[in-house]
Amino acid sequence: MTLSAVEAAPKAELHIHLEGSLEPDMLLALAARNQVTIPYANADELRAAYDFADLQEFLELYWAGQSVLRTERDFYDLTHAYLARAHRDNVVHVEAHLLPQGHTPRGVPFGAVLDGALAAFDDARHAFGITGGIILGLNRHESQDEALAVLRSAQPWRDRILALGLEGPEKGNPPSKFTQVYDQARDWGWHLTAHAGEEGPPDYIVEALDVLKVERIDHGVRCEQSPALVRRLAEQGVPLTVCPLSNVMLKVFPALAQHNLRRLLQAGLCVTVNSDDPPYFGGYVNANYTQSAAALGLSAAEQRRLVRNGFVAAFIDDAQRRRCL
Ligand code: HPA
Ligand code: ZN
Repeated sequence: MTLSAVEAAPKAELHIHLEGSLEPDMLLALAARNQVTIPYANADELRAAYDFADLQEFLELYWAGQSVLRTERDFYDLTHAYLARAHRDNVVHVEAHLLPQGHTPRGVPFGAVLDGALAAFDDARHAFGITGGIILGLNRHESQDEALAVLRSAQPWRDRILALGLEGPEKGNPPSKFTQVYDQARDWGWHLTAHAGEEGPPDYIVEALDVLKVERIDHGVRCEQSPALVRRLAEQGVPLTVCPLSNVMLKVFPALAQHNLRRLLQAGLCVTVNSDDPPYFGGYVNANYTQSAAALGLSAAEQRRLVRNGFVAAFIDDAQRRRCL
């Protein structure tokens, strides 16, 4: 099979949740390995459940699925499988969200989560030449005190974590709830990002920028409701990590043909293409590129621009950026 130019191009993936890369087959295998009971007999039954009315419905299934992740080996296997799959899509740089709050309440040691994932990143650098690292995610529906406790637990790994992120149910959980945590992470020299403007209003994007002082926005597609904000994002070069298939599966847009990715690109925004939670939403990063290109009629130049934006938006130093652009 010959690959299209965009499929063959070296790419960055900046918006992927490691827990959201859990394939049904691995979920079932880990359930058996860890003796966790799940209400699905086989992978087809699981796939049949991947039908969501909105973000909340997805999150409930996603959290339930994570319950099979228990040991450092599980986090290694999960991360390794994703990185090997990303390599097949010619991804050369990955910045991946990982959410300790999804695991430590079940008794999983914080170190098992981090060490397992970090070891897989180390091995992928040698095996595949993939660079990148971990974005420590926070659950936005939990309190700032809980988020500060996550940061305290992360202190021993402080130098091995790339960035802080914010995820989970957006509506009613504005970025400003986490001002202190972001201040702390900034003091530690971490990069900063946050989900905003997926289901939530443009104001949440503004808050993430002005209050949390994030460097980029995860999703951000609802910025279009505020023309002034679209102009600001373009002028300031704030990247959006857009996930087209996710947005359709979670009913942010009714269909890919109605997605605003192309309009935002044409408005001058630094739009990037990513997969979010690929088995749940029907495709890894190449599928997000090719299906968006087909549905929106993206030109070859627009596709090249999207690929290039991935490296413009990445948390890498100028020397690496020059090598990738
Ligand atoms: N939005 C919010 N939280 C998430 C998502 C998302 O798209 N994916 C995994 N956690
Ligand atoms: Zn996400």
